[in-house]
Amino acid sequence: MKALKGFKDILPDEVGLWQLVEGRARDIFHRFGFEEIKVPILEKTELFARSIGEATDIVEKEMYTFSDRNGESLTMRPEGTAPVLRAFIEHALHLRRPVNRLYTVGPMFRHERPQKGRLRQFHQLSVEALGADHPRLDAEVIAMAWLLAGELGLTVSLELNSLGCLQCRPGYRQALVAFLEQRREHLCEDCQRRTESNPLRVLDCKSVHCREQVAAAPSILDGLCQGCAEHLEQVRADLDRLQIPYRLNPFMVRGLDYYTRTTFELLTDALGAQSAVGAGGRYDGLIKQLGGPDLPGIGFAMGMERLVLLLQEQQRSEAVAPQLFVACLGDAAAAYGFGLLHNCRRRGLRVVMDVQGRSLKNQMKQADRLGAGQVLIIGEDELNRGRAVLRDMQTKLEQEIGLDDDLSELLPALAAAQ
Ligand code: HAM
Repeated sequence: MKALKGFKDILPDEVGLWQLVEGRARDIFHRFGFEEIKVPILEKTELFARSIGEATDIVEKEMYTFSDRNGESLTMRPEGTAPVLRAFIEHALHLRRPVNRLYTVGPMFRHERPQKGRLRQFHQLSVEALGADHPRLDAEVIAMAWLLAGELGLTVSLELNSLGCLQCRPGYRQALVAFLEQRREHLCEDCQRRTESNPLRVLDCKSVHCREQVAAAPSILDGLCQGCAEHLEQVRADLDRLQIPYRLNPFMVRGLDYYTRTTFELLTDALGAQSAVGAGGRYDGLIKQLGGPDLPGIGFAMGMERLVLLLQEQQRSEAVAPQLFVACLGDAAAAYGFGLLHNCRRRGLRVVMDVQGRSLKNQMKQADRLGAGQVLIIGEDELNRGRAVLRDMQTKLEQEIGLDDDLSELLPALAAAQ
């Protein structure tokens, strides 16, 4: 017998990494004042239909839903936000604290097509801050996700968007539908349907044809009302204050309908198509919509399988990737570089160079592909002066260093970059 498709055993060899991820997450969540809550895996189907949205992929085609012995429709939770909000409302937690900072860790279930980093049972670190609508809370929550990725040593990028609110989104939606209607026959079948049911989702369709079509679509950021525009500006100012780099992406719409204003994703390019390591946003109308008090909220979830995979990939590539790529321009530099290469290797460094006299641009591409930590660029002029440029491939910072047989400047510079 085998495990179900998309359901994975986590064997003892891997458990250590899982514990590391979870332990680091708990530590950071506690530093930010978050408390753990544990909620059931099974809930009434209606909870997810009402929160995630009837016209989303999750509710339409991915939920594990069945009738129990009493004929009640139940669903295995596809995400953590709705159950946590249900518990928040049921136990009137807003009376306990003005702002409740809650997190939960555990398995979620979505009947998706399994692939690397995408399972049918997966685990989330899921976080919700309930009761405040100040943009500083958005920046704080994003900073927490950013810090977790950073402390795990993962390289991720942050994308930010605003989906507006109930005042400004309908206007944008209308403009978008009008735009999409004109291109209807060029959209994929799913997007033709989504144009009526959930037009914002067309913006992040994976089909190349749809992407081409929507490239000139009106931007949601241009349609924000004054309140939403100011909210976004303040989130951005606080992210700048915390020196957290991000890219505004007006095409980022989330797969769940409950979001208002700020949305964000932490992305990696190391996991193929499954690029989102974590994602979340604000959902100011949701608690009320589920029958609770009219309180705002914001949160995110990180996929634990993806975090563990990234750690594994990173460990693998760190063990084999060259520490240094020597890029030479011209024959004299190449001859000098060849000697330097051997000199470095004798000292235990993983170093490679191009031996085919490629252009600098191609050598840099090669270094990037190999995952080299640093590139030493030796040109004829530099060589005559006994100097070369050392470029850090991650930070892109460059410094000039002296060349000598003892590598007296190169070795400390490489050690400092480790
Ligand atoms: P989501 O974007 O659906 O958001 O999922 C969050 C993260 O869970 C994804 O970025 C990904 O890392 C992971 N994930 C999702 N589906 C799978 C899968 N099939 N296999 C492996 N990993 C997966 C939510 O779930 C929201 N509840 C997040 C949130 C919390 N928003 C506000 N508060």
